Amino acid sequence: MTLPLPFDPYNLLSDQECQERIRAARSKLGQEVVLLCHHYQRADVYQHADLTGDSLKLSRLAAQTDSPYIVFCGVHFMAEVADIMSKPGQTAILPDLAAGCSMADMANLAKVERCWRELGEVLDVENEFTPVTYINSAADLKAFCGEHGGIVCTSSNAGTIAKWAFEQRPKILFFPDQHLGRWTGHNMGIPLEDMLVWDPDREYGGLTPEQIRKAKILLWKGHCSVHQMFQKHHIDAFRAQHPDGIVIAHPECNFEVCAASDHVGSTELIVKTIKEAPAGTRWLVGTELNLVDRLAREVLPQDKIVQFMATTICMCSTMQRIDPQHLAWTLENLAAGQVVNPIAVPPHEAELARLALDRMLAIS
Ligand code: 13P
Ligand code: SF4
Repeated sequence: MTLPLPFDPYNLLSDQECQERIRAARSKLGQEVVLLCHHYQRADVYQHADLTGDSLKLSRLAAQTDSPYIVFCGVHFMAEVADIMSKPGQTAILPDLAAGCSMADMANLAKVERCWRELGEVLDVENEFTPVTYINSAADLKAFCGEHGGIVCTSSNAGTIAKWAFEQRPKILFFPDQHLGRWTGHNMGIPLEDMLVWDPDREYGGLTPEQIRKAKILLWKGHCSVHQMFQKHHIDAFRAQHPDGIVIAHPECNFEVCAASDHVGSTELIVKTIKEAPAGTRWLVGTELNLVDRLAREVLPQDKIVQFMATTICMCSTMQRIDPQHLAWTLENLAAGQVVNPIAVPPHEAELARLALDRMLAIS
């Protein structure tokens, strides 16, 4: 049995050498491999993508590809979804296993199960709450939702999913992103005071039984640190300087930022909206820097100006870990017949997670 090529020597390769070796390995592999890339991927990796998109689009694409190997240039939960949605015999691969999502890590099964138990002490939780997990979560949390009549949502379908969730039961437990949950509830007309934050590090989430009984949505105390860098004063300064400018933000931004924006939506919606906008428009964009930089360059020839919302650099540092060195290492191993970093969700968990993902895909 041959051992996989070790990673260390790849660290010494220049970016240029990596690019040549990626291309050579890809032409050797042909249709054996498909590269799925999230919009936040760095340019030196994104250029190799076969298919790109937001989390919803990528989960659909993962179910449609036929290549035996799906190399996922994104973060861990996305590669898990690719594994769950792919066909038998396909393998999802994450070039660097350390590419996680810090928001997804803010909820785990032990804490969600404790929350569910504690809610059960206050009311009939199975008949009162629909659990809804943002796709930015581990597979076992998607499985939890599958098992408890719940569902998965993404940033592009959260409204439709929440409507479905309320048709099942009168309340929602939403994890792990409080901001997406709050913005979604607000758009459905739910008052802010009926959406309470559940703090998983406190007993009963830090809430009284009365508060739990009254709440319409319980919002898990989680957030994306990249999107918390965007603040309302950035929008105010932009509007003061460019009264005709248009503001677009991702729903992981805080409530004030979303409320002050002209458009709020997923990465795919942000890209599409700006690409389809009239020439000569000016945009302020509240999402990750790699996406904003790429978009700014792409639309500049149509005389559209795209500005990044924050004054400090904020990138998704975990997504950034998928670099040309890891991609070259992954593809050269595949070309040599070795699979490195496969993502394989245990079958029982995958089955329940798929139930929650299929419910989502059926209605979005
Ligand atoms: P999208 O589904 O909008 O691409 O969002 C994924 C994400 O992680 C944003 O931070
Ligand atoms: Fe996770 Fe935030 Fe990175 Fe998106 S930008 S993958 S939510 S850490």
